[in-house]
Amino acid sequence: MTSNEIRQQFLDFFVNKGHKLVPSAPVVPQGDPTLLFTNAGMNQFKDVFLGIGTRDYKRAVDTQKCIRVSGKHNDLEEVGYDTYHHTFFEMLGNWSFGDYYKKEAIQWAWELLTEVWKLPKERLWATVFRTDDEAYNLWKEVTDINPAHILRFDEKDNFWEMGETGPCGPCSEIHINLSNDYENPAWVNAGKPECIEIWNLVFIQYNRDENGILHELPAKHVDTGMGFERITAVLQGKKSNYDTDIFTPIINSIENLSGLKYNYNLPAEDKSAEGQNNIAMRVIADHIRTLTFAIADGAVPSNDGRGYVLRRLLRRASRYGRKINLKEPFLYKLVEVVVKNFSNVFPEIKENQTKIEKIIKVEEESFNLTLDRGIELFENLIVKLKENNQKVIPGEEVFKLYDTYGFPVDLTNVMARENGFTIDENRFNQLMDEQKERARKSTKEKLSGVNVIINSTDDFEISSTIPTEFTGYDELKTDAEVIGIKNENGKSFVILNKSPFYVEAGGQVSDTGSIIINDTHLSVINLLKINNQIIHIVENESGIKINPGDKVTASVDEKRRWDIMRNHSATHFLHKALREILGSHVQQSGSYVGPDRLRFDFSHFQKLTESELEAIESLINEKLRENLPLFHHRDVPFEEAKKMGALMFFGDKYGDKVNVVQFGNYTMEFCGGTHVKNSSQIGLLKIISESSIASGIRRIEAVTGAGVEKFIKEQETKIKHKEELYEKLLEEKKKLEKELSELKFKEKLNVIDSIIKNSVDVNGIKIFKGKVTADNMDELKLMGDELRNKIKSGIGLLISEIDKKVGIVCIVTDDLIKDKKISAGKIVGDVAKILGGGGGGRPHLATAGGKDISKIDEALSNFEKIVSSL
Ligand code: ALA
Repeated sequence: MTSNEIRQQFLDFFVNKGHKLVPSAPVVPQGDPTLLFTNAGMNQFKDVFLGIGTRDYKRAVDTQKCIRVSGKHNDLEEVGYDTYHHTFFEMLGNWSFGDYYKKEAIQWAWELLTEVWKLPKERLWATVFRTDDEAYNLWKEVTDINPAHILRFDEKDNFWEMGETGPCGPCSEIHINLSNDYENPAWVNAGKPECIEIWNLVFIQYNRDENGILHELPAKHVDTGMGFERITAVLQGKKSNYDTDIFTPIINSIENLSGLKYNYNLPAEDKSAEGQNNIAMRVIADHIRTLTFAIADGAVPSNDGRGYVLRRLLRRASRYGRKINLKEPFLYKLVEVVVKNFSNVFPEIKENQTKIEKIIKVEEESFNLTLDRGIELFENLIVKLKENNQKVIPGEEVFKLYDTYGFPVDLTNVMARENGFTIDENRFNQLMDEQKERARKSTKEKLSGVNVIINSTDDFEISSTIPTEFTGYDELKTDAEVIGIKNENGKSFVILNKSPFYVEAGGQVSDTGSIIINDTHLSVINLLKINNQIIHIVENESGIKINPGDKVTASVDEKRRWDIMRNHSATHFLHKALREILGSHVQQSGSYVGPDRLRFDFSHFQKLTESELEAIESLINEKLRENLPLFHHRDVPFEEAKKMGALMFFGDKYGDKVNVVQFGNYTMEFCGGTHVKNSSQIGLLKIISESSIASGIRRIEAVTGAGVEKFIKEQETKIKHKEELYEKLLEEKKKLEKELSELKFKEKLNVIDSIIKNSVDVNGIKIFKGKVTADNMDELKLMGDELRNKIKSGIGLLISEIDKKVGIVCIVTDDLIKDKKISAGKIVGDVAKILGGGGGGRPHLATAGGKDISKIDEALSNFEKIVSSL
């Protein structure tokens, strides 16, 4: 029997017993902050069990994709080292919502196992919770199990809980003993691969609250879970889940990539080199399924929360890869075989194949860099420690390598040993605990949203448990009645029967505003939603008395809310435009919608170019101007909404009924948020930044409406400042240039002194001549002036090359003009002739130009002659 047939037989069996076949929920939980990953089939029905949600069927069956790598159900460390634990697995389950209970659950489980699948009864064992006589007796009454095979266990084994909080109850498990000693009860729950639990029947009857207290639920339910990989191994007669057709195609691919063989004859605990290879291949085969399914459902490796768990898992697989010669990125190549084998049941992995491969590859590449950098840091550290004669690596250093540089601790350990070092594990563990505590605190604070943590309304003075009617889609001011109240530390927690206040969800921040009671305005500083009741947290320092039944007006800060709505509607246009311009691989992975701006995170693999950003922005603004009207479809059945073609926003919680937000025929998305009535109310959208937040995830920040106005003002101010600065700099520049040229000129004048020193006497007249460097005729003139001022009597000739031509200045002192009638104008003309030019001027100073630079020296040496000829 193939695994596909086994899965189908389970589903068919329960469909024939009146169960509705439902699809698996995504492995990324929809709106349950207590869970990182879907860890059981019942997660999607949590609200039904708690009595706050309903379905239009009372019995359901499915195969649920589960990931157990964190929190209460965490099998990570075992995975690879045994034959039957996985980080990802399929849980086959059947449910009753307040319908049938223990009797049918037990009877049908037994029927499927022993009549349909014909498992040997003598190898089957049932366990019940130690006080659950009902289940104990039912096993005896409604099945033909050997009564000696019904065992009682305590909470650890037979009381099932979803997490620290949530639905729970006693359970009855079915185990199969495949050893030769199958009549011996000691095998059951002994953690041996020969005797494993295959099916868990949970009788959900309690909810555990934040304080660990159990509360009886309004109705009793059945929640069962069978390990698909385990039952397949049993039915295919295999000793290990990895030997079934669920895993062998993946292992084949790993063999091909590594060039090594998986030895199916070795037991899991074999520690030989071959056994180590087997472990590595099992780790990789397991983890690649988890990565593929998690990324398909929208998770991405990153530095915190869910993404961090995924990153660690990928790194674990990558490191085991190194043990079997796989050093270059290889995991991404295995996505294909996973897609090939499971997309018939889970088409989403095929739809997202390219994205999954890209994300894994990028992550593998960056991990390789991390390893290289870590090794370098480690080596530097060792050198330092050796210098100080130390033999123990301090816990702080190990923690830093791990926490700051992402370097795996077990690698640090191995490398320490290789270098004759040990690590200070105690200190390291202490630091890890401290960090976990910090992380725990921060999620708790995030969940509560205020400094006061409230998890339930049990200690409220309550007059009604009906859900608060949300009026905030249509109005921002609502007359309402107080139906619950609690006072603490100058704050009041007010539950109303109706409220226009939006409570943070789907990225849209909570509203602010006030609750008006007898003309007194109490500021609403935060909001919470518990069991569909909206709790308004108001400042009430003066201790105004509020009682259930009081009439109040709840009033939302309108201006702020409109800014929020503009930004929220704009994210839908942005999402659509991104998909149009970049492609349909773009998927939202997170968003923030506040009054000041919007932030939109999405999958894409390159930095957006300037022209892409421009195209996106102008497409959006064009659409906004089209005045597209809002169609707000409320409370549409989920399936119908999907048929309408509405896009799902990742991370939102979708119930049976959803809201669909549509603008014209342009965008249509599932969305619980609040929106403008038509696109032109958004005004204008301006993208203000684009960046990367994780590998394969980009972030765009934008502003709309008044935000754009503010942005333009800021830009204008910036430009104005820049202009002013520019003017100032320009002035400064001019000033400096002037100073500089004066300085330079002064330096140039030095040559005048040497010209004066080297004067020659011609017929009793002193003549001064020389080559100078002037930038222009003015400068040359000034030099002439300088010379003229410095000498008492004489004739001077200065020649400079100016712009590839010749500049000439001649000066004559007053005495010579007066006594000898010598004129500079005449002399300069004669000199200029030699240089192929002409000129003239007044007697005391004259200038001329010439063309022939090569004749400058000749002109200078002819000067005496010219003077003596006068
Ligand atoms: N919810 C039960 C389990 O996960 C069936 O074992």
